[in-house]
This record gives sequence, structure tokens and C-alpha cells, in this order.
Amino acid sequence: MDDVEAVVLVGGKGTRLQPLTFSAPKPMLPTAGVPFLAHLLSRIRAAGVRRVVLGTSYLAETFADYFGDGTTLGLEITYVVEEVPLGTGGGIRNVAKHLTSDDVLIFNGDVLAGTDLRAVVATHRHTDADVTLHLVRVPDPRAYGCVPTDGDGRVLEFLEKTANPPTDQINAGCYVFRRSVIDTIPEGRPVSVERETFPRLLATGSRVSGHVDTAYWRDMGTPADLVHGSADLVRGVAPSAALAGPVGEALVLDGARIADDARVHGGTTVGRGVRIGAGARVEGAMLFDGAVVGAGAVVQHSVLGMGAQVGDGAVLVDAIVGDRAVIGARCELRAGARVWPDVVLPPHGVRFSPDVE
Ligand code: GDD
Ligand code: MG
Repeated sequence: MDDVEAVVLVGGKGTRLQPLTFSAPKPMLPTAGVPFLAHLLSRIRAAGVRRVVLGTSYLAETFADYFGDGTTLGLEITYVVEEVPLGTGGGIRNVAKHLTSDDVLIFNGDVLAGTDLRAVVATHRHTDADVTLHLVRVPDPRAYGCVPTDGDGRVLEFLEKTANPPTDQINAGCYVFRRSVIDTIPEGRPVSVERETFPRLLATGSRVSGHVDTAYWRDMGTPADLVHGSADLVRGVAPSAALAGPVGEALVLDGARIADDARVHGGTTVGRGVRIGAGARVEGAMLFDGAVVGAGAVVQHSVLGMGAQVGDGAVLVDAIVGDRAVIGARCELRAGARVWPDVVLPPHGVRFSPDVE
């Protein structure tokens, strides 16, 4: 698909996973050993797309430092920075002058998906659409854009985050835009593609197509999704050409030391130089570089930031620990507990009591 360019949106406020919890911006968080964004870029390249424009409203240098001009990935990457966040539609409009192809693939940068991108473009072309939306079915559509279609795959409505969605079919955050449609988005002000552009296109009779499939799909916006998405990558449930090692129960990176009787499984990533003590149990977790898990500790479906330390016998379930924070021995953190970087919890300092007999 050398005749299709891609735009990846990685800006905005990032409200759901407080960026403050870690030093790296969300799209750069290590996920199965590489920045999250590397997985999406690998899928784009595997589909035969070469030119990618990254639209961001912050920290472009962090992306550029890592991915450079894209050569090592077989891509040509251009970075475009918004001075103030322009929203999803404004972000697309803002990169228009860098685009040359007639059809443009556009991605929300926080989605992990196994979609056949060539098939999405094929639907766009054979329905002669102005815009084509990749759609998936989810158990709870309320947190997404709900997108009902008719029998011919024509989009009927676009209802962003509605309390009573009429269908479980949602916007998967991947679109094909006809290049000329991008030019109709107002320039120089914030625009939501979901709340403004799609409803306008539908109201003015544009052909908006839906491409539905059942491939792997997950929005990585919440901490729980990040943790489970990462485990899916490590186990090979979510496809990626950018994994830092073979798929399996655990991905163990350079210099990590794991005690013989520790159990590390469920798609855990063990970062560079991590140490895991005797008898520890680590399941479906993300241990960033230099993290330490003490003897007998339990870490399940949790994230340990770079250099974070978990003391002996501590229990972490569904918890997020910022870079360099210290969780004292036998502390217990559960159910979305979040510890900010550099915070030190003393031994026995936090317990969890659900107050139910
Ligand atoms: N460049 C830029 N500028 N990018 C932005 C901006 C901005 O001002 N605001 C948001 N983005 C990027 C985000 O970084 C993310 O990759 C993508 O646009 C979507 O924004 P989110 O904030 O993650 O939106 P959401 O997850 O609540 O909802 C969106 O995604 C769902 C699927 O995951 C919507 O598109 C929904 O309709 C959709 O169902
Ligand atoms: Mg999102």
C-alpha cells in the first residue's frame, strides 16, 4: 500500500492514565519491551504503508529521539506538533499539508489492534466512500463512539460516549479519509472528529462506510487496559511485529535476575536489570527497567515503574507504582491503587481492608 499514507494521533490530555505517574509519555511507555507506539507502527509497516505523520501536542522530541526518521522500522516518519492541543479533528487537519496520497489511514495512537488494514482500505475503495471507519463490537459501548450501520455497511449515526448506545458496535479509532475530506475540517481551532466532523459529514450526505471485523482490539487508555494489553502482546494474543523477544508466559529482558523458585507468568514483562526475589509470584505484570520485587511478594496485573521497589511479602493486585517509588515490606495495594514517583511507603505502611465480613 505504497499509495496510502498514515497519520497517527498521539496528543491530547491523556486524562485516563495520569502521565505524571511515569517519566515517559503514555505512547512511549514500555509495553512488551518497546514503547507502545512501536507496536502500532510495526502493524502499519506490515500493511505495506511507508510514510507516517505523527501528530502530537506534546513532547515530540521524545518520539523523535526514539524513532528518528523511521528508517530502522522501514518507515519515513514526519513529526508535527500542535502549539495547543487541537483535538482529534484539529490534529488531522493540522498535518494536511504533509499528506500527498488520495487515501489516508488515520489512527488513534492508543489502540492495540490486529485489524487487517488492507481490508479496511479495500472496503473504503469498493464502497467509494469519503470516509471509512473501522468498527468493532464491545461488551460496554458507553465509553466509546457508538456507530450504527445499515445492511450495506453505510454509517447511519455517530454518537460519541452516549449513555444509552443503540448498538454495541463502536468506533475502533482507525479511519480511511479521502484526502479532500481532510481539507474540509476547519483549520486553526480545536475540532473533535467524533463530535463535529463525523456528524457533519453524515448530515451533509457524504458516504461514510463502516468496516466491521472481529480481530483483536483494545483501547489502552485505562491502566487496566494497558496491563492486560501488554500481557496479550507478551503471550502473542495481540499481534505485533515489534516484540522484544519470543512470545510466551514472560518476556525477560537483558540483565534481569529471577530467583529459581519465583513464579513469573501470565504475560509478564520483566524489564532490563529487574530483580525478582525468592518465592515471589508475578502474574500479568509490567516491570519496567530496574524494578525490584522482594522475596515472597505478590505482583498481579500491576505496573512497577522504572527503579520502583516492592519489599518482601508485599501484595500488589491491580496497582500502579510510579518510577522509583518504594513499597515497604508487607504493604498491600489493590483495586487501582496508584503510587506517585519517588513516594516511599514504610514497611506495613498500607493495608487493604474491604470492610466486609
Ligand atoms: N494530536 C492530537 N491532538 N491528538 C489527540 C488530541 C489532540 O488534541 N486529543 C486526543 N488525541 C489522540 C489521543 O492521543 C488518542 O491517541 C486519540 O487521539 C483518541 O483520543 P482519546 O482521548 O484516547 O479518546 P477516547 O479513547 O476517549 O475515544 C476515542 O477512541 C475510541 C476508541 O479507542 C474516540 O475516537 C472514540 O470514538 C473511540 O471509540
Ligand atoms: Mg483512547
